Amino acid sequence: MLSRSILLAFIVAIASFGQGTSAQRNQTFTNPILPGWNSDPSCVFVKERDNTFFCTTSTFLVFPGIPVFASKDLVNWKLASNALNRPEQFPELSTKSIGQNNGIFASTIRYRDGLYYIITSAINYAGNGVPILLFITDDPYDDASWRQPVLVQNPTFGIDPDIFWDKDGKVYMAVAGGDVSEIDVTTGAAWGTYKVWNGAGDRNPEGPHIYLKDNKHYLMLSEGGTEPNHTVTIARGDTVKGPFVGFGRNPLLTAKDTSNYFQTVGHADFFQDANDNWWGMALATRSGPEWEIYPMGRETVLFAMTWHEGDWPVLDPIHGKQRGPLPPVNRKIPGNGHWVNDPDVENFRPGSSLPRHWVTWRPQDPKLFAVSPESHPNTLRITPSFHNLTGAADFFPGEDISFLARKQSATLFDFNVDLDFAPKTQDEEAGVTLFLTQFQHIDLGLVHLPSRNGFSPLIPHLRFRVEASGKPGITVPETVLVPLPAAWCGKTIQLSLSAVSDEKYVLGAALASRPKDVLKVGSASAMIVSGGTGPYTGALVGVYATSNGGKGKTAAYFSRWRYNQVGQKIDHGVIAPA
Ligand SMILES: *[C@@H]1O[C@H](CO)[C@@H](O)[C@H](O)[C@H]1NC(C)=O
Ligand SMILES: *[C@@H]1O[C@H](CO)[C@@H](O)[C@H](O)[C@H]1NC(C)=O
Ligand SMILES: *[C@@H]1O[C@H](CO)[C@@H](O)[C@H](O)[C@H]1NC(C)=O
Repeated sequence: MLSRSILLAFIVAIASFGQGTSAQRNQTFTNPILPGWNSDPSCVFVKERDNTFFCTTSTFLVFPGIPVFASKDLVNWKLASNALNRPEQFPELSTKSIGQNNGIFASTIRYRDGLYYIITSAINYAGNGVPILLFITDDPYDDASWRQPVLVQNPTFGIDPDIFWDKDGKVYMAVAGGDVSEIDVTTGAAWGTYKVWNGAGDRNPEGPHIYLKDNKHYLMLSEGGTEPNHTVTIARGDTVKGPFVGFGRNPLLTAKDTSNYFQTVGHADFFQDANDNWWGMALATRSGPEWEIYPMGRETVLFAMTWHEGDWPVLDPIHGKQRGPLPPVNRKIPGNGHWVNDPDVENFRPGSSLPRHWVTWRPQDPKLFAVSPESHPNTLRITPSFHNLTGAADFFPGEDISFLARKQSATLFDFNVDLDFAPKTQDEEAGVTLFLTQFQHIDLGLVHLPSRNGFSPLIPHLRFRVEASGKPGITVPETVLVPLPAAWCGKTIQLSLSAVSDEKYVLGAALASRPKDVLKVGSASAMIVSGGTGPYTGALVGVYATSNGGKGKTAAYFSRWRYNQVGQKIDHGVIAPA
């Protein structure tokens, strides 16, 4: 008996020894690590906050914006907060962002003495400079704690700001072009601007980050533009003011001139984990070198790296499956945010609020969207906007668009939602959409239109319609108009929108009581929502209600919202389960 318990103790000891070191062993992970439109990642590891990694990505015009994702294992990511969660934090987002690619982009997130900092730039090609905004909080899990941003001076009109604390406690901001200024995080003053290094010679040296390692200052940039020529390059110097010398074997990382499925790799940020392993995040586009079909735009990928003392960093190239010494799996992240790879199962229960990962196109009047209004519990009521998803020639950015969405986050997905809508006035419409910009979207709506048989003047129709004016020169499917089957009138309709392959969406409708009997109404190529007027953003999946410029005021009631990730394409011809 004694020998047996000794043996048992020995086995237990071996097992726990194995566990203790497993964190250091390489594990496989699947990219993208933040699937769906998540461009320009910036990340920080905060030992002081229970060994948590925090990342942020660009949100351009959508609201809420500047999401902060949290993870303890680098693989499972949960929305912790949205730094931009009150329109008054940056009112210009509603009114001045005329182009579809304007708004907030390319932030840097850092932690210092109990505070979290996100520095970002707001782009508005209509003119009036490039405001740099510094968001600060002491609690990255609490939307309300993100303060009104500090407006930071921008002496060189640079984009993509970085924030860096030097050994002596001085704070520096680097911007695209490799210009560095000293800044005051309280007043936003910037002074003493000088150029550190403007890259290895390619165009658009941008996305700078400064690191201090082994008593050397490193400046990392991305060059070549955020398209297939994108690269990551680096230089270093003895002080933050230089002189800086470029790495002799730049670029550090690129997918340029490769046949990889993951293209446009660049805009990276580096950080260490609790075991001092180095990691990086970058953006990449799942398109192959053809770079024609990429509805999710630029997504966030994870890579392992090594960075020996006194040496230059060595970065793993980006693939769908790669390896690194991941921390152990740990899903203990506080808050009610959405886990990035979880489905949406939303029933709009009384007393609930909208999921925090859902967005509108620019900040919208919250009164347009009501969860479980008294007369219609367990629904989302959408008050129609005068303008449809496209708007009209006289559309002004401050005007309403009654549209609520989440990101397309998987190559293959199924989205379906129930709709109760009793239109009364001509052109009133409510439906589902796959949306890239106001000028590129694929819609299936229930719309009130004159009947062709003349028995009743107006009847509800199912209408499949593609807006593709933002992508001239491609084949656009014809509009499909089907009178709503008589037996469906006055009943709950289920609308569905699925990506059935990496290049095709199918939209259909059914009676909610018979969801399997789907009437397929239309299908469209994902090329329609790749690039064009949205080269920097990515597809959203959601619902809308509009009077199409008419007098209609009839609200639409959506219920039982389901979004399921089905598969991720991670290499040519390879679909992984999502
Ligand atoms: C990428 O670089 C090649 C030359 O290496 C150039 O011909 C091409 O125009 C570049 N593409 C873009 C989008 O910058
Ligand atoms: C673990 O992965 C890293 C990053 O790819 C690599 O540098 C290292 O050699 C790997 N270690 C082992 C033991 O395979
Ligand atoms: C949007 O509404 C305008 C009228 O305001 C109309 O001309 C246009 O066809 C509509 N477009 C779509 C895609 O619904």
